[in-house]
Amino acid sequence: ISLKPYNTFGIDVLASFFISVSNIDELKQVLALKEYPNKLILGGGSNMLLTKDFKGLVIHINLKGIEIISENDDFVTIKACAGENWHEFVLWCISNDFGGIENLSLIPGNVGTAPIQNIGAYGVELKDTFVSCEALSLETKTIETFTKTDCDFGYRNSIFKQHAKGKYIITSVTFILSKKNHKLHINYGAIASQLETMHVTKPTIQEVSKAVIAIRESKLPNPKEIGNSGSFFKNPVISKSNFDKLSQNFSDIPSYPISESEVKVPAGWLIEKAGFKGKQFGNYGVHKKQALVLVNYGNAKGSDILDLSKLIQKTVKRLFDISIEAEVNIL
Ligand code: EPU
Repeated sequence: ISLKPYNTFGIDVLASFFISVSNIDELKQVLALKEYPNKLILGGGSNMLLTKDFKGLVIHINLKGIEIISENDDFVTIKACAGENWHEFVLWCISNDFGGIENLSLIPGNVGTAPIQNIGAYGVELKDTFVSCEALSLETKTIETFTKTDCDFGYRNSIFKQHAKGKYIITSVTFILSKKNHKLHINYGAIASQLETMHVTKPTIQEVSKAVIAIRESKLPNPKEIGNSGSFFKNPVISKSNFDKLSQNFSDIPSYPISESEVKVPAGWLIEKAGFKGKQFGNYGVHKKQALVLVNYGNAKGSDILDLSKLIQKTVKRLFDISIEAEVNIL
């Protein structure tokens, strides 16, 4: 079976076997199948670059359901199953006037994969509303609960990318959201100016979501039209002293403070300065409006995109002496 419909990069590789599971018992049964030692867990397929055929069994996590666990006048606790589409979940929360994840509108992927890289956009991260998640241990075949502290969230990071990597399958995530007096985050990036364009002075969470959607649609390619995986690289964190040296040569280099001694530099800026923005190499390339996004214009090979990413890393290293790390998983 072709995995093309199951990865937002739209890479056409084959899996020897494929099964979609819709409940935890099914998942346990499939994991116990001894005849397929090689197994790949697939969620929304929005953060991966497939570079070759998969000789084994792909298990597609299709666990569905959204449930209110508890609520009072101010807050609601909601448990969403891993296979729910992230953006549809955000829209469901917004339609119920539950606030906290409106800035995370239109992020591709599923609920179950969101904690792995602690998805974030426009000043909000998943961890801000995260309570806990349940995950099936591949070792003990039992469901374990991970609190926010257990997950050890960082910038595009969690234990599921560190020592728990490959050891668990997240089956559900529980969030706490506001029912009134929503705390809005509109001072980040272009949100405030977008709200102004929309003639909104006292924004609701619905309007913040609309603003975020408009900004994302204006710079990020829609995976349904052009294959991509969002930001291909993480924004690097460098020391202030390195940054000061760089700004002597590049006076317009942007940065965001991280700590007393460190700053984050937008990788998109480094890649643009390196001359890659909008560059097309046949059927793949670097997005025209956001240099951090690599794109598949149709039928590109994952290995070609991987080679391009390595060329970008090498060039950025040579020009700025900064190593940029891939954010997407290379398989
Ligand atoms: N920039 C350029 N050229 C470019 C792109 C960016 O010079 O082609 C510079 C500009 O100075 C711009 C700055 O980079 O002001 C920041 O750009 P942007 O607001 O687009 O954000 P980003 O840092 O490139 C991050 C996340 C995105 C998230 C946005 C908005 C990472 C790796 N990426 O991108 O997340 O949507 O901020 O919050 O942190 C994703 O993870 O897939 C993703 C899309």
